[in-house]
Amino acid sequence: MYMLTRQLSRRLLIIAILLATMLVSPLRAQSNAQPWWQHAIFYEIYPRSFADSNNDGLGDLRGITSKLDYLHTLGVDAIWISPCYPSPQFDFGYDVADYENIDPMYGTLADFDALAREAHKRNIRVIMDFVVNHSSHQHPWFLESKSSRNAPRRDWYIWRDGKGPGLPPNNWESSFGGSAWTFDPTTGQYYYHYFEAEQPDLNWRNPAVEKAMFDVTRFWRKHGVDGFRLDAVDLLFEDPDLKDNPVLPGKNEFGDPQMTDKFNDNLPQVHDELRRLRKVTDANGQVLIGETWTDNIDELKAYYGPHQDEIQLPMDFMFTTVKSLSAPDFRKQIELVESAGGWPVFVISNHDIVRSYTRYADGKNNDQIAKLMAGMYLTLRGTPILYYGEELGMENHDPVRKEDVKDPLGQHGWPEQKGRDGERTPMQWDASRNAGFTQGTPWLPVDPAYTTYNVAAESTNPDSILNFYRRLLAMRHLSPALLDGDYTPIGQNGPNVLAYLRRSGKETILVALNFSNSTQPFDLNSAAQGTIQAKTEVLLSTSAAKDAANGQQHTLLLSPYAVYIARINP
Ligand code: GLC
Repeated sequence: MYMLTRQLSRRLLIIAILLATMLVSPLRAQSNAQPWWQHAIFYEIYPRSFADSNNDGLGDLRGITSKLDYLHTLGVDAIWISPCYPSPQFDFGYDVADYENIDPMYGTLADFDALAREAHKRNIRVIMDFVVNHSSHQHPWFLESKSSRNAPRRDWYIWRDGKGPGLPPNNWESSFGGSAWTFDPTTGQYYYHYFEAEQPDLNWRNPAVEKAMFDVTRFWRKHGVDGFRLDAVDLLFEDPDLKDNPVLPGKNEFGDPQMTDKFNDNLPQVHDELRRLRKVTDANGQVLIGETWTDNIDELKAYYGPHQDEIQLPMDFMFTTVKSLSAPDFRKQIELVESAGGWPVFVISNHDIVRSYTRYADGKNNDQIAKLMAGMYLTLRGTPILYYGEELGMENHDPVRKEDVKDPLGQHGWPEQKGRDGERTPMQWDASRNAGFTQGTPWLPVDPAYTTYNVAAESTNPDSILNFYRRLLAMRHLSPALLDGDYTPIGQNGPNVLAYLRRSGKETILVALNFSNSTQPFDLNSAAQGTIQAKTEVLLSTSAAKDAANGQQHTLLLSPYAVYIARINP
């Protein structure tokens, strides 16, 4: 009896250890050749809205730490935390008053250390948002800079005389509306701010600024930070002669004249600076992700650097210009980015962009479309960055009255520009009050759809968007072709079906996505130009597509918005 109990408890122990190991490290394909960030799934956390541990209505670092197991089992390998530095919050943290601390509303540096430690235990890397272009107007550097024309740090920001009484130095506009120059009566000069007046631009032509910012990266290395997302990095430099920007016909959403940012965006000096920064972050073992808004593929290409020596992961925002569910439009964008020759980072959602669920919804097939977008996004070559809640099918929940708007962009641009509150609402954890985000009053209202779209409910529904993401992520992590394989479009001219092969030496994966609301035939053999002789092994598909494939036909019938992913066995 005693022996039996002992054997049983030993077995139980082994099972427990196996389960624990699975929990600590979900299965991953092994590769030593690729840097970690090429195989990683990144996940953006907007800290105000993720999880509130002290019930003050604002998310915080302890809240994030308490959700690391959720992220780990989802299949997340790195979290990018939007700014949590001390800040007066004029732009919700993108106005930094101290680059080397944590805002008390989010916790302490010790809380951050605990978060980084716990994340690393689960093989999750930590990426900080590095607001390089500007600080807060309350940063001690700026307070000193504005105090006198002779202040030692005067030249840390961009000060100029006006053109005349009441006239700013040139016609540059703030992207939040109005002039990009604010007059400061203390010293009788204007200072430059691409964003809000509370976000003065740093002067990167000053070596002391560069040194201070490089030191920031070293500071966070000591606190376990594995990389940075470089905020608004394309804006680091301005034309020293302050030439007027070319004016275009019409007005923008703030009622200001339309113009291009020819003389204050994407200047060549940005690239020299990035190469210098990269040397520092390489020495720290940190990766760089870039918020790189570009108008064309050459500009994006330039951010990788002539010798891949600038940003490892420059984001492609042109992907978000595909406004409708169009297979040819997505195909074109993918091929453009593929032609840049770098490692792609397609952007589909973030804290500045209307959620993809809302952008592509048709009102009838919304959840299926969300799965379609996931099916595409997570099978493309490159590093995906999920935005919190995307895995649940969270939608935008925009304010309906101006007085409810929190985002300065919406306050200035209302009603044409509603701001970004809609995509920043609290994470939906369960069906309890406030979606389990807080017991207090959430800083933004929770989207009413939370009773259906939440982690707890979706975890128990095999057909939920969340479980679809989980399956996709698990599949991606185990597939050499999806992780490293090349991208070959097939069925090139199809107006409705986006299809491609991902091929590595070891494996070929076929992805076929129906971007239309009607059933579409898809001929496996001719689409794959004869590469598919017979055996397709379905890895993941939405039900109707799967049925057709199981019938061993060579023509698939893809139901509306179907996702079909199969391994092609030789
Ligand atoms: C970036 C951020 C955005 C912020 C702006 C100013 O674009 O993503 O949220 O408002 O920079 O810092």
